[in-house]
Amino acid sequence: MVEWSDAERSAISGIWGKVNVDEIGPQALGRVLIVYPWTQRYFGSFGDLSSAAAILGNPKVAAHGKVVLNALDKAVKNLDNIKGTYSNLSQLHCDKLNVDPDNFRLLADCLTIVVATKFGAAFPPQVQATWQKLMAVVVAALSSRYF
Ligand code: HEM
Repeated sequence: MVEWSDAERSAISGIWGKVNVDEIGPQALGRVLIVYPWTQRYFGSFGDLSSAAAILGNPKVAAHGKVVLNALDKAVKNLDNIKGTYSNLSQLHCDKLNVDPDNFRLLADCLTIVVATKFGAAFPPQVQATWQKLMAVVVAALSSRYF
């Protein structure tokens, strides 16, 4: 089981409290689709993903980015049981959506870059260290049904 110190819990609630899901979610998903274009194959029903501008202006990308970050909010609120919290979501991505689990890490990395860009000095290395731990636990939980 993952252990979280009081300092880690407070670092996560501090940075997460500043994250506007409606802003950061679309940017993070948009960045994944631009930087790693093969991820577009999972979003065939989302319409125009033909350029960076199209992706960043695509309302379905924006809406789904919010969905993803709202799911992350559940992890933040259930730090002691992220694996259980994501059990159904892992099964969905594995069995139904057939998403290659390597892509979870790519999304986590893009999200980290968006957060770092947005918060700059308010996202110092010590906070990033805890954030990376959270991302690693989230990625492992989403991958849990695959193995
Ligand atoms: C932090 C990582 C991720 C989280 C928390 C997450 C969360 C979610 C959630 C909450 C849904 C909606 C589930 C439902 O409708 O019941 C979803 C759907 C979906 N996810 Fe993920 N996801 C993540 C990563 C990814 C990645 C990396 C990909 C592909 C590159 C992906 C592809 C999809 C697709 C294709 C859908 C269905 C979209 C639709 O047609 O509406 N997800 N995801």
